[in-house]
Amino acid sequence: MNDFIEKIATHASVRDFKNSPLSPEVKQTLLTAARSGSTSNFVQAFSIIEITDQTLRAELAEISNSAPYVKKTGTFYVFVADLYRQSKLLTDNDKKLDGLTNMEPLIVSIVDTTIAAQNMAVAAESMDLGICYIGGIRNDVRKVSQLLKLPKYTLPLFGLTVGVPASRNKVKPRLLEKNQVSENYYPKEQFTDLTDYEKITKDYYGSRESNQRQASWSERNVAFFEEIRRPEIAEFLREQGFTLN
Ligand SMILES: Cc1cc2nc3c(=O)[nH]c(=O)nc-3n(C[C@H](O)[C@H](O)[C@H](O)COP(=O)(O)O)c2cc1C
Repeated sequence: MNDFIEKIATHASVRDFKNSPLSPEVKQTLLTAARSGSTSNFVQAFSIIEITDQTLRAELAEISNSAPYVKKTGTFYVFVADLYRQSKLLTDNDKKLDGLTNMEPLIVSIVDTTIAAQNMAVAAESMDLGICYIGGIRNDVRKVSQLLKLPKYTLPLFGLTVGVPASRNKVKPRLLEKNQVSENYYPKEQFTDLTDYEKITKDYYGSRESNQRQASWSERNVAFFEEIRRPEIAEFLREQGFTLN
């Protein structure tokens, strides 16, 4: 394993940062990394908004329920799945938008945006910075969209807080390889036999330094997925011009 892969394999989200801003050179490097990823059909369907206004940052932190590590960090970016540029190209050329508003381009833009963000995340970690994705901005997706003045055919997907870690969490044990990786076909029983992982995650949650709990990964996932979260997202996407067909 080379040093870069070692860094990837020991990733842990950072939620406790020093109050140190990132230099313009470091931020430029992060943006170059983000903007250099693979992109479906070269559409580059994402935008990145750095939140430098502290009042705006505080509002996003509040919405996200992640105040300490959105307010006190090196910098905070919002990653926007973005088909507005292409919508303008089409309308400027008197074309219909049907090929841009259905489900497939929306998936494309969400994937492009995620690849860009993850490129930035690994670049940051390669420089010993810490990161945490902030999907919490979708707690009030309309408000975030208004605050950032987002046009139609866009979705504020998540934030990424990047900074100098004040402390680091332990690496969370991932699903076992046998539960996630196979050859040639999908082995239903093998992928869903979580007995060994149950034990590992119970030990992990019960022994970690902060936020200890008596729970396993499976229990957490049942609790997570039995609730309908953010039911307004589909309606918001329709308001943004997507048909979801
Ligand atoms: C798309 C996405 C959104 C996330 N949103 C949040 C968030 O709003 N707040 C937070 O504290 N962590 C957030 N996380 C971090 C996850 O909780 C974290 O990656 C996961 O628990 C695994 O832990 P690790 O990153 O330390 O390995 C998010 C991660 C992803 C990929």
